[in-house]
Amino acid sequence: MFSRLFGRKKKENEEMAEVHISPNQNWSFLGADMHSHFLPGIDDGAKTVEDSLTLIRSMIDMGYKSIITTPHVMIDYYPNTTVTIGNALQQVKDALKENNIDIPIKAAAEYYIDEYFMQLIEKEPLLTIKDKEVLVEFSMLYEPPMLFDAIFRLQSMGYRPIIAHPERYLFFHQNFRKYRELQERGCRLQLNMLSIAGYYGRNIKAIADEMLSKNMYDYCGSDAHHEKHVNVLKVMAGTKDYHTFANYPFLNNQLCF
Ligand SMILES: [Fe+2]
Repeated sequence: MFSRLFGRKKKENEEMAEVHISPNQNWSFLGADMHSHFLPGIDDGAKTVEDSLTLIRSMIDMGYKSIITTPHVMIDYYPNTTVTIGNALQQVKDALKENNIDIPIKAAAEYYIDEYFMQLIEKEPLLTIKDKEVLVEFSMLYEPPMLFDAIFRLQSMGYRPIIAHPERYLFFHQNFRKYRELQERGCRLQLNMLSIAGYYGRNIKAIADEMLSKNMYDYCGSDAHHEKHVNVLKVMAGTKDYHTFANYPFLNNQLCF
């Protein structure tokens, strides 16, 4: 069914723009979404404030009660700081107010683990999802040599890492033990909902399904960048995956504010 959704043809994209969600089967039980790219013009997510509003309206339609949006902090591509993120958040908050759109929104970040991040940890306070929890990601193609050192340093500063979309790191697929190791080292794991929908392909879906069946995830996130992602979530709410999510003890509700 999802293969139809991920088609690249223009006609299919137009069809997706008309997706509606059932009020009886939406994502409200999750409470908060804690991974998205809704701030305008500072990463590969929303390009304009209008995009931000469209995406946020869709999240409200899907029943979400709070949004913690997480722009990339990735020195080579998106050199965001607490200032760029804070300014973009303020722009969105002002636009929400002007348009009478009522949903609590705050910003954290999705930090890319590399040498720059290792310096950043020491230099300034990091933006957190809640309390001292920090969302991190890394290359999907190779394991960064400083991965476990970064985790250790974060923890020694009192932070708790949340590993974004572990199912997407291809080099872990043949070494499932690494996921356990991340957990044993105190990391939380965050599922991308789109992975279960098959959006990133069959292999990533298979790993996500397996991790979900083994109760390995703590949070789930939309990781929505644009309306196409949001439409996949809307369709997903009408499939059997919805019930899998509804029966899983995600901690997202604890993030509502
Ligand atoms: Fe992301």
